[in-house]
Amino acid sequence: MKKNVAKFLSILFYKRLFFDAPQNNFKNHMLNKFGFQKLRYFLLNKKFKLKKINQNSKNFKFKDLLNKDGILMIKNFFKENEYERLKQNINQIKSYCKIDHYFLGNKDTYSFVFNKKSNNETNSLINEIKQLFGNSIIKELLMSCSNININDIFTDIIYQKILSNDSSNDFNDHASEFHSDKCYPCFKGFLTLNHNTVSSGCYEYIKGSHLPSPSRLEYEYYLSLFESKIYNEKTMYEKGFQFRNNRITITDRYIDKNFGMNSIKKCEAEENSLIISNNMGFHKRGRFENNQIREQLRFGFYKYQKSDFSKWLRYILNRKQ
Ligand SMILES: [Fe+2]
Repeated sequence: MKKNVAKFLSILFYKRLFFDAPQNNFKNHMLNKFGFQKLRYFLLNKKFKLKKINQNSKNFKFKDLLNKDGILMIKNFFKENEYERLKQNINQIKSYCKIDHYFLGNKDTYSFVFNKKSNNETNSLINEIKQLFGNSIIKELLMSCSNININDIFTDIIYQKILSNDSSNDFNDHASEFHSDKCYPCFKGFLTLNHNTVSSGCYEYIKGSHLPSPSRLEYEYYLSLFESKIYNEKTMYEKGFQFRNNRITITDRYIDKNFGMNSIKKCEAEENSLIISNNMGFHKRGRFENNQIREQLRFGFYKYQKSDFSKWLRYILNRKQ
């Protein structure tokens, strides 16, 4: 019995309601009306709040930028010979692996995950890439800034290439509107494999939008209600929200009022640039112009936060009296 209750609670609180974005259903709507989203916001921000960076710590400048702005860009990330090796490996892996083709909105997208085991040849190339990232400063950066407990952070590296032949059809991709992934600090990153420019939909981020504040709490509360889809556009607009490209996003008026339009950073970056982003902050991919290609190696770190929290929750629920 106790086990079943623990299982039920862990599903209810851990998976569905705590970590994921608010679900579009009436039950959640009512929970949120009674303040569930506010509770979730407080607990998760307490649990995952950003760490203070010691001035004397290694790479202080980078850590401080990531903490203050929520976004960090490091150009020429790998040494020239390391980067060349990385590109060679990717090209070889591409020739061995099946590359998935799908659409992001209307854009042709090709990708593959590096942990798909196909043969020994590919595995050794993949291991070499993972090692390259593992030996870099990424792990230390993230562990100094946030409450992430990481052993092997590069289990899920994804190669992604987006092609654009026609700029007029760049719609329907929900990633192309400003949004936040979670209501608490969380991190993603990517390495550019070609020159990411404004014309090729480079990443955009609102600097400082990752910091908890009363207005952010208000945003989370209204988002949770509007996600239930029972509000009209006028009410949403008054609170700074609008529906565009298949998602609820924020209006320019909201951005200007809370952060200023100048806070939007367009991450134009030559190849071999590393970008790490705290995706509690508002972010999106930019719009594509004709005949553009954007190529990246992408990695997410969300699951390291989940597992940590889930261990803690399981401990609380299952501990002996
Ligand atoms: Fe996102």
